[in-house]
Amino acid sequence: MSLKDKVVVIMGASSGIGAATAKLLANKGAKVTIAARRMNRLEEIQKDNPGTDILAVEADVTKAEEVQNVIDKTVAKFGRVDALFNNAGIMPVNNLEKTARDEWQNMLDINVKGVLNGIAAALPIMKKQKSGHIISTSSVLGYEVLPGYAAYSGTKYAVRAIMEGLRQEEHSNNIKTTIIAPGSVKTELFDSINNDEVRNGLKEAMKQPGSEMMALQPEEIAQAVAFVIDTPANMAVNEMIIRPTGQEV
Ligand SMILES: NC(=O)c1ccc[n+]([C@@H]2O[C@H](COP(=O)([O-])OP(=O)(O)OC[C@H]3O[C@@H](n4cnc5c(N)ncnc54)[C@H](OP(=O)(O)O)[C@@H]3O)[C@@H](O)[C@H]2O)c1
Repeated sequence: MSLKDKVVVIMGASSGIGAATAKLLANKGAKVTIAARRMNRLEEIQKDNPGTDILAVEADVTKAEEVQNVIDKTVAKFGRVDALFNNAGIMPVNNLEKTARDEWQNMLDINVKGVLNGIAAALPIMKKQKSGHIISTSSVLGYEVLPGYAAYSGTKYAVRAIMEGLRQEEHSNNIKTTIIAPGSVKTELFDSINNDEVRNGLKEAMKQPGSEMMALQPEEIAQAVAFVIDTPANMAVNEMIIRPTGQEV
């Protein structure tokens, strides 16, 4: 089955990597469900991409029933789910000594439990179909740790562990898994950093001449996602690390 005929669900599709992936896949002819909390942003994506087949569903990935509703509405409209992209995430930055308990909880709920909720909602229909593909966004910080990013890194290591477990459990049921691990990408993610100094420093760095070698565009990660979805039935790309050429870590 080519990308053109596939039904793809994207969680965290209202901005950045998720929105870019939705636009690319829909314009290549896939049927795409986009989900996130900001419904107005999802509706803009629908409006800005006429002639495409995009279903928008409001959902908070921390709520299992809302994630299930996204899958159920997709099956009701498009009849199946070929790929699920668990992409919702936040990245607050603080050293551990700050004891930012709310940030820890939000990251665990969105970055980790959100992925588990997606897997739980999509697996039954994929197993019934005897095919499917679950893709989740980890990060270079799911392989490396930096000061200030310990808790975020922990959630992205967890995504890798969960996805490798899923691969081992479901490969014999014809379910593919892919970990997408971007380096720095120019998106709204930095807005989720509460620490003013870190947020403003990163945003300023993105404006400096030569910064294009230090940060990717979300459309470039979208190309990687389109590639892994469009592989032949016998080929599963299980992990993909995509750094901007100039990034050291
Ligand atoms: N940008 C980078 O440098 C970078 C690098 C490595 C990995 N990543 C990862 O890439 C993924 C996408 O981030 P991005 O860079 O594209 O940033 P972004 O533009 O801020 O996008 C984040 C997406 O996640 C959604 N989201 C957040 N909390 C949610 C919730 N509770 N329920 C549903 N959706 C939720 C947001 O939608 P709503 O707010 O509308 O709900 C938004 O669509 C994240 O997992 C991030 O950790 C990013």
